Amino acid sequence: MVETLTPTSSPSSWWCRWIPTNTTFFSLHKPLLLALWLAFLFTVFYWQRDAATAGGLLLFRRDFPSRMLILPKLRPVAFNLKDFGGVGDGITLNTAAFESAMLAISKLRKKGGGQLNVPPGYWLTAPFNLTSHMTLFLAEGAVILGIDDEKYWPLMPPLPSYGYGREHPGPRFGSLIHGQNLKDVVVTGYNGTIDGQGQTWWKKYRQKLLNNTRGPLVQIMWSTDILISNITLRDSPFWTLHPYDCKNVTIRNVTILAPIFEAPNTDGIDPDSCEDMVIENCYISVGDDGIAIKSGWDQYGIAYARPSTNIRIRNLVVRTMVSAGVSIGSEMSGGVSNVTVENLHVWNSRRAIRIKTAPGRGGYVRHITYQNVTLDNVRVGIIVKTDYNEYADDEYDRNAIPILEDISYTSIHGEGVRVPVRIHGSDEIPVRNITFRDISIGITHKKQHIFQCSYVQGRVIGNIFPAPCENLDLYDEQGQLIKRSVSQNMSVIDYDF
Ligand SMILES: *[C@@H]1O[C@H](CO)[C@@H](O)[C@H](O)[C@H]1NC(C)=O
Ligand SMILES: *[C@@H]1O[C@H](CO)[C@@H](O)[C@H](O)[C@H]1NC(C)=O
Ligand SMILES: *[C@@H]1O[C@H](CO)[C@@H](O)[C@H](O)[C@H]1NC(C)=O
Ligand SMILES: *[C@@H]1O[C@H](CO)[C@@H](O)[C@H](O)[C@H]1NC(C)=O
Ligand SMILES: *[C@@H]1O[C@H](CO)[C@@H](O)[C@H](O)[C@H]1NC(C)=O
Ligand SMILES: *[C@@H]1O[C@H](CO)[C@@H](O)[C@H](O)[C@H]1NC(C)=O
Ligand SMILES: *[C@@H]1O[C@H](CO)[C@@H](O)[C@H](O)[C@H]1NC(C)=O
Ligand SMILES: *[C@@H]1O[C@H](CO)[C@@H](O)[C@H](O)[C@H]1NC(C)=O
Ligand SMILES: *[C@@H]1O[C@H](CO)[C@@H](O)[C@H](O)[C@H]1NC(C)=O
Ligand SMILES: *[C@@H]1O[C@H](CO)[C@@H](O)[C@H](O)[C@H]1NC(C)=O
Repeated sequence: MVETLTPTSSPSSWWCRWIPTNTTFFSLHKPLLLALWLAFLFTVFYWQRDAATAGGLLLFRRDFPSRMLILPKLRPVAFNLKDFGGVGDGITLNTAAFESAMLAISKLRKKGGGQLNVPPGYWLTAPFNLTSHMTLFLAEGAVILGIDDEKYWPLMPPLPSYGYGREHPGPRFGSLIHGQNLKDVVVTGYNGTIDGQGQTWWKKYRQKLLNNTRGPLVQIMWSTDILISNITLRDSPFWTLHPYDCKNVTIRNVTILAPIFEAPNTDGIDPDSCEDMVIENCYISVGDDGIAIKSGWDQYGIAYARPSTNIRIRNLVVRTMVSAGVSIGSEMSGGVSNVTVENLHVWNSRRAIRIKTAPGRGGYVRHITYQNVTLDNVRVGIIVKTDYNEYADDEYDRNAIPILEDISYTSIHGEGVRVPVRIHGSDEIPVRNITFRDISIGITHKKQHIFQCSYVQGRVIGNIFPAPCENLDLYDEQGQLIKRSVSQNMSVIDYDF
């Protein structure tokens, strides 16, 4: 059975059923029918007016192309949220409907799982848990709204690799759409939306009215085979999409939005201790990092010891005025390796691609490849920062020194950039084996201090613009050494510029 959306959201079929077809009948009872017809139209008008003021139905506000009314069936059994008593008026709380649906789907495990269709409408809900072998399908015009009253948000233990909620000690709020120990989960749709209504949370955070760390919008933990595609995620209270200690995660064709200012910590995607992950064809414009690859915090992350590895990021457009387009760290204590970032476009942003860490983090960042990155009006392009001192607590191991090595930047182009490169290694954390090739970045300011380095060992292949710092060895295009650097530890870091 193909699930068709119900009459309220399907104007054409719904309308047709009410047009009288028997003309004889019609002529005999014309006055009566006309009266009934008019009464009916008035009823519809008032009903629609009320629904519209409640932010609900869209019948007279927007046309849905008919192909969008028939949702694909991606599992043997498909349910509609309304089957479980869901009401999409933006006011009614649908937590029980979502929970019943998840329970029903959890019983279909052996039959290939189940699909939950969320039709057009505003579906207010408190946090709920996903189940395995399921597809959550958001129709066009479907908006899942997170309730913004924290008393509905359950508290959960801190993540083991963080030891704390990220902003407060002790428990943290769970996520709006949560899952743990799952397998085979798909969240997709015709660009329906999951909206965290973060405004209230951001305000309370700024006013210091919260005693626990805010919850992410979608958090999937200890799970495998996860696909998130063709949807929009917006206004998360905290990090938007947080896959934690997962394997085989694909995020494709997702739009992530939050205000670029005053939406604190609304990172787009935070792959955290994850393995085998692809993020592609996404548009991200948020109030913190677009993507931040992590693997736990200081001694807690070192003890948990789960790296983020084999991560491929491509075809992304990112905007961020507060932080960076794609970051690694600063919590990277379990290690981060084998990450490829390609075909990335960062525009009107503060920073583009950044690796951040600090003494005490431990772990490593290695085998990182950036390829074909476009910088369009960003303040700082390429950054490595080794003094990002933000510790979980004072118990961190002073001897846990992170390793940064085998990092390459190829085909990085752009214009309107203030500081194209700032690689700030230190005596404690030198940056080793870094490669630059095919770089041309148009600058906005004076020609001094535009390629900043300290404690960097590595090479430049061919000609690049701006001219590299003296810390790097120079090779020609054929890979022949032209000049070996004798001043790898020299520092030309200038934060004032
Ligand atoms: C989701 O499941 C986790 C783990 O069982 C639990 O701690 C959490 O409270 C659940 N969340 C909700 C909203 O039921
Ligand atoms: C991306 O998702 C939108 C709906 O969100 C869909 O219309 C479009 O075809 C998708 N693009 C690809 C390449 O899958
Ligand atoms: C999906 O919806 C968002 C928000 O409404 C919009 O910005 C984006 O362009 C849409 N994506 C596609 C592929 O239609
Ligand atoms: C936060 O903690 C303080 C001090 O314990 C307490 O007065 C306040 O009511 C708490 N706020 C919330 C929102 O729980
Ligand atoms: C990864 O997950 C996808 C579903 O998202 C699945 O189709 C695929 O078979 C999985 N890959 C592996 C290697 O298990
Ligand atoms: C996204 O939507 C497009 C267009 O409907 C469809 O072709 C594609 O398979 C969807 N992608 C995923 C990963 O669901
Ligand atoms: C690095 O990650 C890619 C996937 O992005 C994977 O295909 C490759 O095998 C990984 N390389 C190593 C050495 O593990
Ligand atoms: C580089 O990335 C841009 C998108 O940022 C893309 O349009 C272009 O085709 C890519 N170039 C190559 C050679 O892949
Ligand atoms: C330097 O890093 C590159 C990757 O960027 C790697 O292929 C190479 O083996 C590394 N060299 C050494 C000496 O480790
Ligand atoms: C540069 O610093 C590194 C690491 O701190 C050190 O091992 C090396 O001896 C220094 N090299 C020079 C030439 O001072």
